[in-house]
Amino acid sequence: MSEKYLITSALPYVNNQLHIGHLIGCLLPSDVYARFCRARGRDVLYIGGSDEHGTTSEIGAARENMPVEEYVEKYRAKHLDAVRDFKLSFDLYGRTHTAQHEKLIHELFERLDSLGMIEEKSSMQPYSTGEKKFLADRYVIGTCPHCGYDRAYGNECESCGASLDPAELINPHSAIDPSSPVEMRETKHLYFKLSKMQDKLRAWINSRVGWPKTAIKIANKWLDEGLRDNPITRDLKWGIPVNKPGYEDKVFYVWFDAPWGYVSISQIATPDWASWWKNPDCHYTQFMAKDNVSFHSVFFPAQELAMDDNWKTVDVLKGQNFLNFNGAKISKSTGNGIFLDTALEIAPSDCWRYALLASAPETDDTDFTMTRFAEIVNKDLNGLLGNFVSRVCKLSNKNFGDTVPAGGAMDEDLAHRINEKLAELTGCLDACEFRKSIIALRDIYGIANEYMTAREPWALVKNGDTAGAAAVLNECFQLIDLFARVSAPIIPDAAEKIQNIFTGAHDLSWPTMYEHRIANGEKFTVPENLFTRIELEPTKE
Ligand code: MF3
Ligand code: ZN
Repeated sequence: MSEKYLITSALPYVNNQLHIGHLIGCLLPSDVYARFCRARGRDVLYIGGSDEHGTTSEIGAARENMPVEEYVEKYRAKHLDAVRDFKLSFDLYGRTHTAQHEKLIHELFERLDSLGMIEEKSSMQPYSTGEKKFLADRYVIGTCPHCGYDRAYGNECESCGASLDPAELINPHSAIDPSSPVEMRETKHLYFKLSKMQDKLRAWINSRVGWPKTAIKIANKWLDEGLRDNPITRDLKWGIPVNKPGYEDKVFYVWFDAPWGYVSISQIATPDWASWWKNPDCHYTQFMAKDNVSFHSVFFPAQELAMDDNWKTVDVLKGQNFLNFNGAKISKSTGNGIFLDTALEIAPSDCWRYALLASAPETDDTDFTMTRFAEIVNKDLNGLLGNFVSRVCKLSNKNFGDTVPAGGAMDEDLAHRINEKLAELTGCLDACEFRKSIIALRDIYGIANEYMTAREPWALVKNGDTAGAAAVLNECFQLIDLFARVSAPIIPDAAEKIQNIFTGAHDLSWPTMYEHRIANGEKFTVPENLFTRIELEPTKE
């Protein structure tokens, strides 16, 4: 039986168009890893989807003057387009506003409650008298008691940096409806007794391997500060209703339900979901950006462990740093960044996939620019990969027709060099180190190019050494076949085009060693150019 691999990508809120930051933060790395695992014959369940609850949806819908359901639908449709266009190979790209999800959350809540892990507490919360509802701290605006700034938020003042309690604000009012005053009112909420999980969670974190430094740091910071019980209900309408009497006008906090979306989406994806989620031998990798790490390294596993129901907890948590664009944060409101609906007007998806992975913010926040993008595409994809494939096909076609010329034994020195890089590439992908993977992949393209340059098959033809030229070109075709296999997880469209050069059926399974799979005399077609150079317009000042 093949090994089980569970792979999840953080579920983006459906309150905005996705951008290249989302792509490199979780969507692409998870997809490449899923493709790589499948190519190695592993039994993969790869899950993603939309996080549809939370204040972001409610506020966004209010801003666009739409019912929340409609608003969520509108952005989800855009996200689904991006999933399709960027070739993200999810087994299911699901969502959290489903009956299945609600049923699961209700069961899990009951389980935690029955174990004594839930507590009811009263507290004073900001209440908008005009809108007749409680507000999250962030949605209260007023004058800062420290510096007098009149646009301070209920949780912090962006002018003097003070962290605030909404009760401290002078003249507090609602951020959504500024005409509505805000007062503090008593309300009750349910709390998850996270503090009880301190020791169990510490031991669990200490037993994890392969996490990036940033992720481990974030998890340990929470533990070092001491875990505090946290509220899991909110005074909102939009969300999962709370299945406890007295909570009819509240919903569960979005971060209480969202991570369990991985499970409910799996349940919808396959009747066999438990063979991943309840299987201690399954290997589970999560992908996300660093702002999601505390929820995935502390809150979610704490709930899983508290239930003691054999839930699969994450083995490897890949938390990416942030990708900036032109030196600044990517943001819809400032318009800085590349958004996924327009990215494909600039270049095909493979180019984005490759260039973003080559720039993955794995160890630090990283800056991405169009100049960098064009350089990577032109040098690596168009230069090393595309040109090699097209030169080999054209030269061979011109001198030997449309069949692969006869070759002999494998070039040992070449094979040795390729195998070294192949092992490196395999190791990097297994460890989900994508920047290094791209370097190893580029080196494979490079070695092939060097081989052809050194052997000069065109000169051999000219000097009458037809058999010699045929042997070199044959080796080059074997390298092209290898390119397709090792490139497939990263640039799936190009890999397919390369594979289609050959008329024989060759799978795109992951190679353990460089091998000759293309038969002498196999028919091939000369492909269109695989990539086109990206020429940037000089910026108009
Ligand atoms: N919606 C969150 C965000 O966009 C991520 C949720 S991940 C999940 O930041 F685990 F909760 F699903
Ligand atoms: Zn202030």
